[in-house]
Amino acid sequence: MWRPSERVRHGPPPELYPTADEARAAWLFQPLVLASGLRLPDRTWVPAMVPWRASEEGLVTPAVLGWYARFAEGQPGALVVEATGIRDVPSGPLLRAGHERFVEGLGRLADTVRARSGGRTRVLVQLLDFLRIRRRPEPSRYFQEFLEVTKQHRRNLADAYGDARWEDATEGEVRAFLGNTDRRTVEYVLTPRELEALDQGARERVTDTQLPWIRELPLRLPGLFAEAARRVERAGFDGVELHYAHAYTMSSFLSALNTREDGYGGEREARARLPREVYRAVRAAVGRGFTVGCRFLCDDVVEGGTTVEDACFFGVELAREGMDFLSLSTGGRFEDASQPRVGEAAYPYTGRSGFECMPTAVGDARGPYGRNVAKQARVRRAVRAAGFETPVVVAGGIGTYAQAEALLRRGEGDLVGAARQTLADPDWWRKVREGRGREVRRCGYTNYCEALDQRHRPVTCQLWDRQDLGDGAPTVDDGRRRLVAPGWVPGVPSRAGR
Ligand SMILES: Cc1cc2nc3c(=O)[nH]c(=O)nc-3n(C[C@H](O)[C@H](O)[C@H](O)COP(=O)(O)O)c2cc1C
Ligand code: SF4
Repeated sequence: MWRPSERVRHGPPPELYPTADEARAAWLFQPLVLASGLRLPDRTWVPAMVPWRASEEGLVTPAVLGWYARFAEGQPGALVVEATGIRDVPSGPLLRAGHERFVEGLGRLADTVRARSGGRTRVLVQLLDFLRIRRRPEPSRYFQEFLEVTKQHRRNLADAYGDARWEDATEGEVRAFLGNTDRRTVEYVLTPRELEALDQGARERVTDTQLPWIRELPLRLPGLFAEAARRVERAGFDGVELHYAHAYTMSSFLSALNTREDGYGGEREARARLPREVYRAVRAAVGRGFTVGCRFLCDDVVEGGTTVEDACFFGVELAREGMDFLSLSTGGRFEDASQPRVGEAAYPYTGRSGFECMPTAVGDARGPYGRNVAKQARVRRAVRAAGFETPVVVAGGIGTYAQAEALLRRGEGDLVGAARQTLADPDWWRKVREGRGREVRRCGYTNYCEALDQRHRPVTCQLWDRQDLGDGAPTVDDGRRRLVAPGWVPGVPSRAGR
């Protein structure tokens, strides 16, 4: 992962643990009713986290149930289930909602969260669409199989060598030559997109409108999102979060890098058009009592990408559409991803934008804690100034009660998202609410978990995954890592360590 050149180590921020009485009066633990009528028991929110536990077919497994059951034991106000694909296409061990056969397993998941939280936690599914991305190829394979040899390649070769005979070279000759020549020549002959395909792995963009399936995204996506949302509703969830954030299709429509010329790109009004149309299709497909919100970026954090000013505009427009909540994230884009190893796909959290999405304890002087809340608060202020009361979820380096309570009181957000702190200690919200804050196991913001995600391995936390092995909990890596945090015994602080 990209890191700032400064190497300042930030210890955990000071914590002020409330007593149970103080917690009862805290803003964090006051209920909130969304426009859909859904009542959240408090302002605590677990943002989506992909744990790599679904089956290869995208189905809910016992490990998926175990992962969410463990979060439910901490009784957060809302729990958003990981990014779940809206299409019925193979996508490895990521959950899917692109066909009726997924409904039964998703139903067990919704039931599990309700039962294990004592009916307290509201549970939503994050719905995702993503475009095709290939693994970085072996250069020889790229030149032999993937490169489409064109007249322009031949012309470039003729030009580079001052030898017109290249204009008539066979495809095999061009492939063989490029596969064995020096880097400078390759850079001269290939287009920037072909070089990217060679160096990073080919990646589709929403601007590739020469491809029919990309051109038709505005026609297809509203229906696909709507059908998936209807399945999630039938499975018994409280709502969906439309994934308009990070490196994926909908975020790329919102991004300032979207230069489509078909009315769905260019000016920010046009970039917001498909996200609006998707929302309308989803809203029309589900009951009024079903919650529909979205997650989008307060800043792309890539050159030429969307800024906080754009995000303020999008916040207002999405609130105007009637979204039940707006959840904000930051960065996590492909444009600045670092080069993957041969055979691996680029991962959108390896560049600077990835650092802003999941900031770590070692970095620049600003540190990771609530790092992007100021930008997210600007989006909330813009939404309020436009006359909308839509609740806003803020996230990124929030891992203490003191931070959460202070930002709510300052009006920077309405709901507090904490992903990694909840992974480090799934019971932490509950401990704080019950006046047992001293028993919280605190996240070190090391990103060991995120590195596992990058390698598509089951995600765990380094603070507990080697603890009490052999107590019957499910494990991976030949029993070397447990899949869920050890249970909490009230009165006994949760340990960090082996
Ligand atoms: C292992 C892991 C998986 C994640 N998966 C998702 C995801 O599926 N969808 C999403 O919007 N964000 C995802 N995120 C980002 C988090 O939701 C959150 O925005 C980010 O970790 C910053 O919040 P935090 O500082 O509280 O962890 C993931 C984060 C982690 C650590
Ligand atoms: S591995 Fe655990 S301690 Fe490290 S960032 Fe992830 S949740 Fe926090």
